[in-house]
Amino acid sequence: MNEHKLTFFIYTMGCQMNVYESEMLNMYLLNYGLLKVQNIRNANIVIVNTCSVRKHAEQKAFSYLGRLIKYKNNKIIVIGCMAEHLQLQLKKRFKNIDLIIGRNDTNNMKRTVLTIMKFLYQYKPNYIKNVYIKSSIIRYLAIAKGCNNYCSYCIVPFVRGKEVSFHYQDIFNKCTFMVQSGAREIILLGQNVNSYSNHGVTFTQLLRKIATIEKLMRIRFMTNHPKDLNDDLIHAMSVIPKICPHIHLPIQSGSDKILYKMNRKYNYEQYINLINKLRIAIPSINITTDVIVGFPNETEEDFNKTLNAIRKIKFGKVYVFKYSQRPYTSASKIHDNISYLEKQRRHKIILEESNKISLALASQMIGSTQEVLIDKLNHNSIEATTYHGYKTFITINSTHNNIHIGQIINVKIINIKGTSLFGNTILNE
Ligand code: SAH
Ligand code: SF4
Ligand code: F3S
Repeated sequence: MNEHKLTFFIYTMGCQMNVYESEMLNMYLLNYGLLKVQNIRNANIVIVNTCSVRKHAEQKAFSYLGRLIKYKNNKIIVIGCMAEHLQLQLKKRFKNIDLIIGRNDTNNMKRTVLTIMKFLYQYKPNYIKNVYIKSSIIRYLAIAKGCNNYCSYCIVPFVRGKEVSFHYQDIFNKCTFMVQSGAREIILLGQNVNSYSNHGVTFTQLLRKIATIEKLMRIRFMTNHPKDLNDDLIHAMSVIPKICPHIHLPIQSGSDKILYKMNRKYNYEQYINLINKLRIAIPSINITTDVIVGFPNETEEDFNKTLNAIRKIKFGKVYVFKYSQRPYTSASKIHDNISYLEKQRRHKIILEESNKISLALASQMIGSTQEVLIDKLNHNSIEATTYHGYKTFITINSTHNNIHIGQIINVKIINIKGTSLFGNTILNE
């Protein structure tokens, strides 16, 4: 293999699954002796990890690839969900792309890295080196790939393929390895973690097993599909302290008519029942969600049902999206009859309403003491994540200099600015 070190830069779009896969790729490339650079100008190889979930995501990738033309000496590699279904278009439109690696490879990062090595060195190593790399405190880990749900709007099953649950022992070993390398919180990923099943091991059984890893302090997981969320999981969440009291449970719409058209397989009443069960079993739970506005034929009445659901349920955070018609999906056969302006209006209303609620919920934390995990130490602040929120970072004012990354401490929340919380450390409580 070439002795001089090639440099690489990875640009990641899309969901946590892509972030996870970029992390894997990053680790493998480092293991093969390539050098990671922070500045794209210094990169011999630029890898663009793409997303297809909405048209906007694809347009973003197109414009990014367009801008890359000016870095003439780079090798450009496109991976991810767009690489699967837009191979031809990408090749035609961007002559500067050197390699496109579609789904079969991106679903298996080991194969992807071997393809890249072969492309770079005309040499395919027959093994993957596993070299110790210090882990960050919070790590993602995919427990399954693909999806069998075929929600009518969604392209994911077509670009990611059928659902496959990874071997439970393999997952456990990976978690153990991550913790040995420094991880303290693991976020298990799957398009629908509740449907995980491998050699008779269910998702809840997998969680129980992972919770036995001694130095692992916190476990989270996403995404949960309401149709598959069962009592067994709710019970495990309520009794295993390491499982954070947080759940991301996409509602998508508050209207039964739209939910049916979306092929979500639950109705509003069933969703509310789940929320009630969760809140009874885990009173401190933070529930976050996804909403799509402007699905074909969504009337003002349907939309108001979604808005009322948001007001009633009080989510910690709502990720709201404008419906985007996607190829292959069954909804693509229905006329996309809500104008962009109208989608924008509905989007704004949900966003403003949900932001108000998020802020009110976060403000309730002022004065309380929260258990936080120290994630990053900056020059003049400490960033930590709370036990409850998924992405609730707290900036801590601290006079103590004995705080280290990976430590769990108590913090008294004193203030909120924007969506960020600020607090003071309490060491002996
Ligand atoms: N598997 C996960 C997430 C899939 S994509 C789940 O089932 O929840 C993340 C979110 O993007 C979805 O929850 C949905 O709200 C949104 N989304 C998916 N396809 C979309 C489309 N065609 N237009 C707009 N939003 C979409
Ligand atoms: Fe898409 Fe539905 Fe599968 Fe989620 S569960 S990835 S929204 S098809
Ligand atoms: Fe994720 Fe986007 Fe693919 S949301 S699964 S990267 S289409």
